[in-house]
Amino acid sequence: MDKIVVEGGARLVGRIPISGAKNAALPLLAAALLPTGASTYKNVPQLADVRTMAKLLRMLGWDVEFGSKTEITIAPPSGKKKPKLEAPYDLVKTMRASVLVLGPLVARYGRARVSLPGGCAIGARPIDQHLKGLQALGAKVTLDHGYVEVEAKRLKGATIVLDMPTVTGCENLLMAAALAKGRTVIENAAREPEVEELATVLNKMGARISGAGSALITIEGVDELLPIEHAIMPDRIEAGTFAVAAAMTHGDVLLEGARPEHLDAVIAKLRASGVTVAAEAGGIRVRGTGELTAVDIITQPHPGFPTDMQAQFMVMACIAKGQSVIKEMIFENRYMHVPELGRMGADIHIDGRVAVVRGGAKLTGASVMATDLRASASLILAGLVASGKTEVLRVYHLDRGYEAIEKKLRAVGAKIKRAKQ
Ligand code: EPZ
Repeated sequence: MDKIVVEGGARLVGRIPISGAKNAALPLLAAALLPTGASTYKNVPQLADVRTMAKLLRMLGWDVEFGSKTEITIAPPSGKKKPKLEAPYDLVKTMRASVLVLGPLVARYGRARVSLPGGCAIGARPIDQHLKGLQALGAKVTLDHGYVEVEAKRLKGATIVLDMPTVTGCENLLMAAALAKGRTVIENAAREPEVEELATVLNKMGARISGAGSALITIEGVDELLPIEHAIMPDRIEAGTFAVAAAMTHGDVLLEGARPEHLDAVIAKLRASGVTVAAEAGGIRVRGTGELTAVDIITQPHPGFPTDMQAQFMVMACIAKGQSVIKEMIFENRYMHVPELGRMGADIHIDGRVAVVRGGAKLTGASVMATDLRASASLILAGLVASGKTEVLRVYHLDRGYEAIEKKLRAVGAKIKRAKQ
């Protein structure tokens, strides 16, 4: 197992290239199950989760080839090879986004059997809305020994009202409805840019989707979808993470390829903290000029403040002037970075979904444990400003969602390296 060792105190200056978005790549790889031929994606991030999804598609019988480090081609089973329609537990348990194969498989082949993902570190994360939506489209859903079986001769368009704007739930239903017979309307739909990106790609394949990015999405089902080529959008959470790193180290960093329109809520909070953020040709420029001031955060579905940026902002709150109140409204257990930050000298009090952060902490380096993807990133950020050395253990969590984070940070001046644990 690897660990990452950070020496605090460096100011980050320079350009950081932002990779393709993990949370767009995963649904887009699943969407490649739908068309009749081989699709190619460019700007694919080199992440453990992408490799896991590629492995799943191969297990289902698709041919998956990495043309280059950031290009992938996915072709349906050829010749006598028949598609398998089952996603096994030992794979799904490593990545819950595997459930995204449900919609495409049942839409195209009339059946899918996927292991229920089970809980994860940050919460129970059920998929009841995915299944309720598929049932609304006429599918028969049965639970059997930890697996969910979904069957339908041909899905039929329907109106689906989601209990909450679930991102992958919406993505599963978009892919299912694309090949259903007739019109589907999804109300209370997720508005994340990654949902919009999926709709864009499905429309390139020949789907007829309108309203993606809003809370009301309409899909006119078609009979067949065709293969496409597409360059994946930049990762707004990776960009937001490095923006916080620049702010905390009083740095001056250009986030190459980042799109400001994907980060409105995060940019607003950075500016409220006293950080200079400007859209520049080629990306977003972030300068940590004066002292950081405390801001309050409430995580919400897009366009609200993203839960995936909560841990990163909590670290910034630790060293800002004043007290911050943070409310994590999306996941019920997304404060596992707090005890680890406490070991570095942070002053954070948790009461249910509310975290009160007293700023002005002088963080000191320590050996800390990564627990989930964004918590791991927050520990790296803390190490960048802590006095002395910080060792972040179990960085396999980090590698799921950040491509070569230590290389990108070292290139702008951080004293950081990967080592064997
Ligand atoms: C996606 O997860 C992202 N993952 C998450 O990013 C992100 O934190 C989350 O959306 C929220 O923005 C991918 O896109 C691969 P949800 P998802 O369904 O779709 C509840 C990261 O760090 N819910 O929008 O699983 C659920 O428990 C990851 O990159 C149900 O109750 O999130 C949660 O409380 C972490 N029933 C809330 O809704 C359902 O059927 C939002 O979950 C579905 C969800």
